[in-house]
Amino acid sequence: MNILILGGGGREHALAWAVMQNPKCDKLIVAPGNAGIAKIATCAAFDIEDSAAVIEFAQNESVDFVIIGPEAPLAAGVSDDLINAGFLVFGPSKEAAQLEASKAFTKEICDAANAATAGYGHFTDAESAKAYILKNGAPIVVKADGLAAGKGVVVAMDLDEALAAVDDMFGGAFGGAGAEVVIEEFMEGEEASFFVLCDGINVLPIGTAQDHKRVGEGDTGPNTGGMGAYSPAPVLTEAIAERALDEIVKPCMAEMARRGTPYQGVLYAGLMIKDGAPRLVEYNARFGDPECQVLMMRLGGQILDLLLATAEESLADAQVNWANDHAMTVVMAANGYPSAYENGSVINGLDALSDDSFNVVFHAGTAKKDGQTIAAGGRVLNVTSRGESLADAHQRAYAAVDSIEWPEGFFRRDIGWRAL
Ligand code: AMP
Ligand code: GLY
Repeated sequence: MNILILGGGGREHALAWAVMQNPKCDKLIVAPGNAGIAKIATCAAFDIEDSAAVIEFAQNESVDFVIIGPEAPLAAGVSDDLINAGFLVFGPSKEAAQLEASKAFTKEICDAANAATAGYGHFTDAESAKAYILKNGAPIVVKADGLAAGKGVVVAMDLDEALAAVDDMFGGAFGGAGAEVVIEEFMEGEEASFFVLCDGINVLPIGTAQDHKRVGEGDTGPNTGGMGAYSPAPVLTEAIAERALDEIVKPCMAEMARRGTPYQGVLYAGLMIKDGAPRLVEYNARFGDPECQVLMMRLGGQILDLLLATAEESLADAQVNWANDHAMTVVMAANGYPSAYENGSVINGLDALSDDSFNVVFHAGTAKKDGQTIAAGGRVLNVTSRGESLADAHQRAYAAVDSIEWPEGFFRRDIGWRAL
């Protein structure tokens, strides 16, 4: 079949790499793709948030299956429009993607489903938001309601910080995303990510992961999109994953179906785990980036069958063939990230690296110039390895990182410290 993947980051490189391994994949196109993806698939340039452009391209290329990577096309309704045009699509509807796009919506679903999450209040004006903060005290968490590119959350350790965050959000610091604010109880514990596929009714777990959000070693400094990840997450034991499934994920999916907006796609549940009990921090309506890279490294070509079963509503008959393995990815980013950074520096040493089922360098933000690979983004490379243990995967990934010559980039040396 002819397959189109929307997106151009490390997540989409990993998806493309895994999908390609499945014999059902005859032709693979990725839009916009990047220099790494271009080595294994055709890259195409059009606006992936414009449904008409996506549909026209898919029709011209006789695409049989569209896989949507990032959240922006989902929030723009590209999945709905493609389905209405007759395409088979992996990616939730705009209504269902509200689970990521609106924090207030997610809280409402959790309430209706009786799913464990932080206590909260939902506010449309600063005065009542501040009254709630003063009543509940710090630490407390202030969140802009809408999509804010991962920057709309302030975990306030004292009252002043919480009150200032309310002023910032209603003052327009997050644009439309801050017009409504959710204020949450601060949850203590260890965070981990739980990934499931849902075909509208049936739910299939496909792995766990942990990432490192802070830019600096020892989990210090500003937040980023993620500086590295590993799978599985030891803190998410089978027993806790079972509870997360039965007490949080399945009831929420049933509530979405009951409302007539069934969820079809990958659901990424961010969990806080304390004393063996999981509570929901957030849902995302897509694969995590870089969490997807470690999941794909472990799942390989079977992922295409699972994504198809999700789109075709046949997950009840699907299963994951697990290997007893571990994967780790180390993000290499441009100096300066997550603040200002420069594009265009040359990366050497990539061609000498092996590219097999144990080691792959996924490209997150690269381009080709005069035959050389150059940096074209904040997060640039995801050096990903698999092994019998996390220590094996760690050793392989860092050996590869150390052979890459890129003085204008940096990485964290301590990915996986908590689990190792
Ligand atoms: P979110 O965008 O909702 O995932 O929030 C970003 C990060 O803020 C999460 O990954 C957590 O580390 C932290 N966070 C969010 N909500 C809470 C909460 N209620 N209690 C403690 N930490 C939180
Ligand atoms: N790595 C975090 C995310 O994709 O949201």
